[in-house]
Amino acid sequence: MLTTAFVTTILASSAFAASADQWQNRSIYQLVTDRFATPDGSSPSCDTSQRQYCGGTWKGIVNKLDYIQNMGFDAIWISPVVANVEGNTSYGEAFHGYWTQDINSLNSHFGSADDLKALSSALHKRGMYLMVDVVVNHMAGTSDPPNFSSFQPFSSQSDFHAECFVSNYDNQTEVEQCWLGDKNVPLVDVNTEDADIVKTMNTWISTLVSNYNVDGVRIDTVKHVRKDFWPDFAKSAGVFTIGEVLHNETDYVSAYTQVLDSVLDYPTWFPLVAAFQTTGGNLSALAATVQQAQSSYKKGEFMTGSFLENHDQPRFPSLTQDQALIENAMTWPFVQDGVPIMYYGQEQSYAGGPDPANREALWLSGYVEDKPLLKQVKALNAARKAAISANSNFLNTGAKFLSTGSESSMAVSKPPMLALLTNGGSSSTPSWTVPDAGYQANEELIDVLSCKMVTADANGGVNVQGSGGSPQVLVPTSALSKSGSTCAEDATGGQASAARGWVERAAESVPIVAALLLAGWAAQSSLVIL
Ligand SMILES: *[C@@H]1O[C@H](CO)[C@@H](O)[C@H](O)[C@H]1NC(C)=O
Ligand SMILES: *[C@@H]1O[C@H](CO)[C@@H](O)[C@H](O)[C@H]1NC(C)=O
Ligand SMILES: *[C@@H]1O[C@H](CO)[C@@H](O)[C@H](O)[C@H]1NC(C)=O
Ligand SMILES: *[C@@H]1O[C@H](CO)[C@@H](O)[C@H](O)[C@H]1NC(C)=O
Ligand SMILES: *[C@@H]1O[C@H](CO)[C@@H](O)[C@H](O)[C@H]1NC(C)=O
Ligand SMILES: *[C@@H]1O[C@H](CO)[C@@H](O)[C@H](O)[C@H]1NC(C)=O
Repeated sequence: MLTTAFVTTILASSAFAASADQWQNRSIYQLVTDRFATPDGSSPSCDTSQRQYCGGTWKGIVNKLDYIQNMGFDAIWISPVVANVEGNTSYGEAFHGYWTQDINSLNSHFGSADDLKALSSALHKRGMYLMVDVVVNHMAGTSDPPNFSSFQPFSSQSDFHAECFVSNYDNQTEVEQCWLGDKNVPLVDVNTEDADIVKTMNTWISTLVSNYNVDGVRIDTVKHVRKDFWPDFAKSAGVFTIGEVLHNETDYVSAYTQVLDSVLDYPTWFPLVAAFQTTGGNLSALAATVQQAQSSYKKGEFMTGSFLENHDQPRFPSLTQDQALIENAMTWPFVQDGVPIMYYGQEQSYAGGPDPANREALWLSGYVEDKPLLKQVKALNAARKAAISANSNFLNTGAKFLSTGSESSMAVSKPPMLALLTNGGSSSTPSWTVPDAGYQANEELIDVLSCKMVTADANGGVNVQGSGGSPQVLVPTSALSKSGSTCAEDATGGQASAARGWVERAAESVPIVAALLLAGWAAQSSLVIL
């Protein structure tokens, strides 16, 4: 009989090496290492407009894992780890990590190899996963022409495509073989058609994953490398791969779901922002895009990364100041088929505009947990976990859009969860009339965002009036009690604040660390000598 301590010991020293299936029930917190936490807990000033290193490190992340885990996240995605261009450029320093110079060295601004190993090991002790961001498409120069001998291990001009900057995005050859960036900081395009380079890249990713016990890989600028490069690269990584294919059309992005485990769901992100950015946004267009993706992606929307913000796009609260619209948009990724991804700072209502303003230092927030959006995220993570454990098909049941009787509202059904969204805005009194909600007659439900009770009608339909334009996320009280919560009892007393206690407790009890460790152990037991 294995003791938990023994299992913990084995796992702390090895990666979960997690597959796509193992990532599907996760919830990911994306962070920019330089901007998340300093190693000594200090709070240096950080003027985003200067684009300089501000002092965040891998050790800093380790010290703030409670903050991330308390919100209910069980995975983190960190910015790239390899050595970058040093010094100032026309666009500042490489604090973001996307300007690779040497794929075989780490970026010393973020710590040592031991620090990075300590991060994955600290995550694994908590049953959490580590996703590392990688760039294959290019390396960064600081002059035109670039100094090819400054790159490692590809240090001759012939290791790169000939210089030309991408200008026509409708010409796929150009997208794949010309360069991103500009003459100030050219993103020198690696010749990924060359067999030796392919081999080097595949060996590199395999080594990176095993050296640092990485559980998943986020891949930058995927559409800028030929599609048939990716299957062997993903196989060499040996863990979950999720690609960035920055494009608004599901048809275009769909092809990449054939060559990697998954993609970031950019085609849905465009209509998502448009739908909730103003009170006149088109909710039907958002639903229509999801339906296209559900039918055209290799695994439907399952396992795509569902997100509202990231380091490349203006933060959502920079586009609207209406808190209700923000609450609705932020709910979206947690009630969809994909793996929810939240960009650090959303929970603190950060509102930076386009890059570089959207890369604020999180320490300036004081990591205060008593914030409305932080509590909302915590409730959403807990509700998703409760839905996953109440319905063994939750993760494989595609979201359905049910009729609500109003153009400014939307009902997203993923049994036993029903998300009621609206873009009516803060001054609206939304209502949702959902006759086909699919609940049992008179079933007791709870809105996890307000902890108020709702009772289904005699036909299992839902007829709800909200307030202040806020969303609601309904889950049967029975599903909540299955996950060990006591929300039902608390909420019956009509005390919203008491009911909040359910969320607190559920967030703690659902991702039971021991259970996760055992699951991780079982999944890789063939690798463990017993
Ligand atoms: C970095 O370089 C840019 C462009 O030359 C310049 O505007 C900026 O002041 C420099 N920053 C520092 C800290 O040297
Ligand atoms: C190019 O890079 C190499 C290797 O880092 C360095 O030795 C050399 O001085 C650089 N050349 C120029 C012109 O900067
Ligand atoms: C597409 O781009 C490639 C590479 O720049 C170029 O050789 C080719 O002529 C372009 N094709 C068209 C149809 O413009
Ligand atoms: C994608 O963007 C292009 C360029 O802005 C636009 O012409 C096209 O209609 C968009 N497609 C969708 C599905 O929104
Ligand atoms: C909203 O989007 C739907 C689906 O794409 C489209 O048919 C409809 O015309 C759009 N409505 C408006 C007001 O643009
Ligand atoms: C995720 O699914 C695995 C089975 O694939 C299970 O063992 C684990 O407990 C689940 N974790 C969560 C947080 O639901």
